[in-house]
Amino acid sequence: MKKILLLFAFLFLGVPSLALAQAGKVDPAKSWTDAFNIYFVIITAIFIIVTIPLIYLSLKYRRKHEDQEGADIHGNVPLEVLWTVVPLILVTLMGVQTWSVYNQFRDVPKDAYEINVEGFMWGWNVKYPEGIETLNEIRVPVDRPVKINLTSSDVLHAFFIPEYHVQEEAIPGRTTYFWFQPGSVGEYQAYCTELCGNGHSEMLAKVKVLSRNDFDAWISQQKKAEATATPVEKGKTLVENLGCRGCHSVNGDKSSGPTFKGIFDRQTTLADGKVVKADKEYLEEAILEPKSDLVQGYSSIMQPYKLSDKDVDAIIEYLKTLK
Ligand code: CUA
Repeated sequence: MKKILLLFAFLFLGVPSLALAQAGKVDPAKSWTDAFNIYFVIITAIFIIVTIPLIYLSLKYRRKHEDQEGADIHGNVPLEVLWTVVPLILVTLMGVQTWSVYNQFRDVPKDAYEINVEGFMWGWNVKYPEGIETLNEIRVPVDRPVKINLTSSDVLHAFFIPEYHVQEEAIPGRTTYFWFQPGSVGEYQAYCTELCGNGHSEMLAKVKVLSRNDFDAWISQQKKAEATATPVEKGKTLVENLGCRGCHSVNGDKSSGPTFKGIFDRQTTLADGKVVKADKEYLEEAILEPKSDLVQGYSSIMQPYKLSDKDVDAIIEYLKTLK
């Protein structure tokens, strides 16, 4: 009896307070782990409480001879109240706990560092508030909560960082979000967890948590590189960040798209048999309107890109160098 009273005291006082205890610095990943551990203990206890008597009583009261009749029992009020009230309390408390953890995952702290992530077939474009962009890599400072605004440019993807217990859908035409406390300096693996085509299993990203000093240094270094880049360098960065390399090799290898090696001014046979020169005008159209004038032997899988004239020019300047 004493033990049962202690368990109740723990559930009433302990469970909700664990959810509220972190009012200072909320960390949903930690709350998730705490909730998981509490559920694990409760569920294991229920399993043992139910299973051991079940096995014992089944053996003890089993039929011993062919013609044996079982006892005729018509209910037991205290027992029925007990097995209704106890689970009701348990389920209510677990529900309250889950609701509280759920809210932590949805309520983003006001001082969060906001990063935009866009999924595409097959990679992740990352845009920082400072105007910097990276591909398949999210760098964050260790001392601030991080909010990720998530979307997709083509099909459904999903972004998952197991370490932080966060997973969110990347939906074309809609922006979703999630947030996490970086916790400690290190490198964490992120995955696409929505089957999105051939490259799904390789649609990975790294989350790099840096110290405040390293992060600030990286930001200023990236800004400097951006400001002094030539059109060719800009084009190369764009080609890498936009994920073009997923389908277009730069060394002549065959892939799902024509190789970029020697692409500029190349004699190209189109799907309708027409032969054209892949000049600036053709390449511009191939980037912005890839569905028209398709190259023979390739299927129409490329999505149109919305890019500024300057960016398109930079990409073509870079393509010219791939001889
Ligand atoms: Cu993107 Cu799977």
